[in-house]
Amino acid sequence: MCGIIGYTGNENAVPKITKGLSVLEYRGYDSVGIAARTGNGIETVKCRGRIGALEEKLEANPITDCSCAIGHTRWATHGGPSDINAHPHRAGRVVLVHNGIIENYKELKSEMSAKGDRFLSETDTEVAAAVLNDEYGKLGTPAEAIRKAIARMTGSYAFGILFEDLPGEVWAVRCGSPLILAKGTDGYYLASDMTALLPFTKEYHCLEEGQLAHLTPNSAELITADGETVTPTWSVTAMTPESAQKGGYPHFMLKEIYEQPEAIVKSVSPRIKGGLPDFSADGISPDFWAKVKNIQIVACGSATHAGLVGGRILEQVAQVPTSSYIASEYRYHPPLAVDGTLVVVISQSGETADTLAALRYAKQKGLPTLAIVNAVETTIAREADYRIYTYAGPEIAVATTKGYCTQVSVLYMIAAAIAHSCGRICEADAKELVRSVLEDAPVAIHQMLEQTDALRRMAGDICHHEHVFYIGRGLDYAMSQEASLKLKEISYIHCEAYAAGELKHGTISLIEEGTPVIAISTEAALYDKTESNVREVYSRGARVILICRDDAKNPQASADDVILLPTTSGAATLFAALAAVQVLAYETAVLRGCDIDRPRNLAKSVTVE
Ligand code: M6R
Repeated sequence: MCGIIGYTGNENAVPKITKGLSVLEYRGYDSVGIAARTGNGIETVKCRGRIGALEEKLEANPITDCSCAIGHTRWATHGGPSDINAHPHRAGRVVLVHNGIIENYKELKSEMSAKGDRFLSETDTEVAAAVLNDEYGKLGTPAEAIRKAIARMTGSYAFGILFEDLPGEVWAVRCGSPLILAKGTDGYYLASDMTALLPFTKEYHCLEEGQLAHLTPNSAELITADGETVTPTWSVTAMTPESAQKGGYPHFMLKEIYEQPEAIVKSVSPRIKGGLPDFSADGISPDFWAKVKNIQIVACGSATHAGLVGGRILEQVAQVPTSSYIASEYRYHPPLAVDGTLVVVISQSGETADTLAALRYAKQKGLPTLAIVNAVETTIAREADYRIYTYAGPEIAVATTKGYCTQVSVLYMIAAAIAHSCGRICEADAKELVRSVLEDAPVAIHQMLEQTDALRRMAGDICHHEHVFYIGRGLDYAMSQEASLKLKEISYIHCEAYAAGELKHGTISLIEEGTPVIAISTEAALYDKTESNVREVYSRGARVILICRDDAKNPQASADDVILLPTTSGAATLFAALAAVQVLAYETAVLRGCDIDRPRNLAKSVTVE
């Protein structure tokens, strides 16, 4: 949700900022801007649109002689996408870029207007700039001014700041929204996440909550919330610049779909010892699992769907009562906790504001927390009591694929670990479950990806419709919810997921001649019942695509198209179905000419509540 980048050093800052912004675009892409320190002071160039629009402006009026700059790519919250609302914003001697929300901006705006400030934009960011400029005018030292200014603000935010009278210096502060610093051979950097800086350096430091950063061409220092000055501790990221590039695929989403088999192996194999699930490298012992009596899974969007699938697996395999909750609702109707309740939060980005708020709420209530996170050292990962990384690698497409896939595979492993630690399954069954995720699932995904031509042909029909339904029972109902979100978020087709047996209680009235209904049936025991529901819609004119096990009897009898799934193991069938619905969504969106990796109105990392 908005991307920030900054640089000060001994090289030209402008290409670095634009390159970094093009990577950060996944965080928001409705407007973009740069503030560059030149011999004439701070020059600001900004506009509605994407990085290409900014580059055109910069080509027409190049900024030269600049080795210190900040940049921003925006996902609009306060004030629609426009040139004027684009960041950076200036007030007096302060120019800043902002990620997050200033919740009390209306009060601050009235206060500052009463003092004579005039605002050009509708943003909370311009108000923040005015408040900081006010404090800077009173105090004269940047660190103190930033400290006083943020004390007047509520909300969650990160700022990158230039001061007119401090050439070559970039200041930053983090209060709830992510920011990292990085050290290159050519100077110092600042960004919302490391992927933007991979072309320049691998050494980074994550800013702590409430910390200020002060960068000059030759130094980086941190100022803690207590006013103490400390030096950053640099770590080296394992990510490579290639991991954040398309690598020959037309879209990141497709690349990430194809990366799933490898992502599963990377996520699962470090958690296996002697063929059995083992989380000791994550600091989690079998004793810990044995104490778990009840699980609350909390997440947003696709991660909630992973929780729904995982919850069913946990109940079936580990026999632990598990419920999944939407993070933004969790605090308002918190479920009852019992002795032995574990709260599991799931987040690909590790920065989702609603999930973070739920995590903090659970911690406040004294509940133990475990985070399943992909992006390392992110806020959710750091704040949870325990963390399990999914190792899917950078996920750039807004629509998650490998992130979700690895979340489900880790949940399988947790279910196996609990079941085995508590003696609910024997060693051989635990080993078989682990093996099926590690070996069968990646193979099954590969097999499904070989059927892309058939899926593309089916997409050719779906793409002409405005309403589509997914149906399934049990695990497949949970999977249908993810399948439906995938289709609607990238193709803009209205799609609903229904428990297959529930259709006849109302929704079946929406089925008309030709309405696409996609039925998922991966569980042998539920096939007959799901097939009856398929017949109900088929006989009413629905155009049915049946995604089912390859041992299903005569599936063609009640479907226009059938996708057969490998049945090597339960995990193989489930993951193959996942790949099928992902490809179906992808191909449909391609045929509709949609912006696959950057769907309208969305952003990858949702850091506002
Ligand atoms: O980074 P997170 O996993 O916390 O993100 C949660 C959701 O915002 C995310 O899964 C979203 O629903 C995806 N765009 C769906 O593809």
